[in-house]
Amino acid sequence: MITYKIAAIPADGIGPEVIAAGLQALEVLAARDGSFQMNVTTFNWGSDYYRRTGQMMPPDGTAQLKDFDAIFFCAVGAPDVPDHITLWGLRLPICQGFDQYANVRPTRILPGIQTPLKDVGPGDLDWVIVRENSEGEYSGHGGRAHKGLPEEVGTEVAIFTRVGVTRIMRYAFRQAQSRPRKFLTVVTKSNAQRFGMVMWDEIAAEVALEFLDVSWDKMLVDAMTVRMVKDPKSLDTIVATNLHADILSDLAGALAGSLGVAPTANIDPERRFPSMFEPIHGSAFDITGKGIANPVATFWTAAQMLEHLGEDAAAKRLMRAVEAVCASGVMTPDVGGTANTQQVTDAVCEAIRTTNI
Ligand code: NAI
Ligand code: MG
Repeated sequence: MITYKIAAIPADGIGPEVIAAGLQALEVLAARDGSFQMNVTTFNWGSDYYRRTGQMMPPDGTAQLKDFDAIFFCAVGAPDVPDHITLWGLRLPICQGFDQYANVRPTRILPGIQTPLKDVGPGDLDWVIVRENSEGEYSGHGGRAHKGLPEEVGTEVAIFTRVGVTRIMRYAFRQAQSRPRKFLTVVTKSNAQRFGMVMWDEIAAEVALEFLDVSWDKMLVDAMTVRMVKDPKSLDTIVATNLHADILSDLAGALAGSLGVAPTANIDPERRFPSMFEPIHGSAFDITGKGIANPVATFWTAAQMLEHLGEDAAAKRLMRAVEAVCASGVMTPDVGGTANTQQVTDAVCEAIRTTNI
């Protein structure tokens, strides 16, 4: 029996509700499988912790997480704490401290879930967005001068390195190679941004030579939003910078029906550190405590975590259970259903226990 050490960080808003749902499903999966178990340690870091201590996590937070096999995270964000404090105080230090440079965001239309796109159904939209997660526009380089004065300046510098771009490009080509269509779209903005973005395009062309069985094309990010809406079938694997992919993946989540079903994984492909798995959505404080948060994004990211741990069969079983439950109409209000979080969770757990998959 393998035991995986999982660090759960539910953090803010609906985090505790959906992480509890995810952990329940993982328990049932492990029991059904019989060959692994989850040893979960929960960390109560986040905005409540900040109100008590002035910090989002203890100074040795990442050291405490270092020896876990994976981190199961929800979201940070509270109405009374500035977003840059919550994000830079907890989520980004983990991503950057553990060099989780590949952010992987699968998007599909699950059965039973309505997309806002006309004449598009399950199977017509099946993407993996690979987001550069360690540098670019979110490098934290910049500053403010003459604060509050009329001549105030603020700079936000995007940093692109050859090492950083090459490694994410290789990861994206490998992802594309592992999927049936073997097709990658490289997104930049190299018409308006002449330096870092042109380097992205050049490095893409170089790395492509290492993956001759993968076909690829290039898009400017603005035109990419149009292609995602008008011609979703024409896309498969997508790679883009930290900022561009952040925006494109929110659009992808919306096109797939709801942010409540969109998962993401922050991966250290070299496995030097634990990787972190989280739903794409935020803390959703408008619905916190109502018991109606959609747990599907959290289930899906739990499946990504199982895949990362090498538990492919359990990951597939979890996704089939989620798909069966969505198809049967047991869904939360954000995707047009009337069920609450617990009812969806119970249905998924029941499907894991009983379906022969
Ligand atoms: P949000 O994703 O929290 O919510 C956007 C809308 O989607 C809301 O109406 C919400 O109710 C709905 N929604 C989100 N997740 C849902 C779910 N699982 N089930 C049903 N409905 C769901 O984004 P918003 O409102 O822009 O941000 C709220 C807070 O979350 C902010 O403080 C923001 O900074 C933070 N945030 C944190 C993230 C992270 O930690 N990774 C990511 C995105 C936002
Ligand atoms: Mg986002």
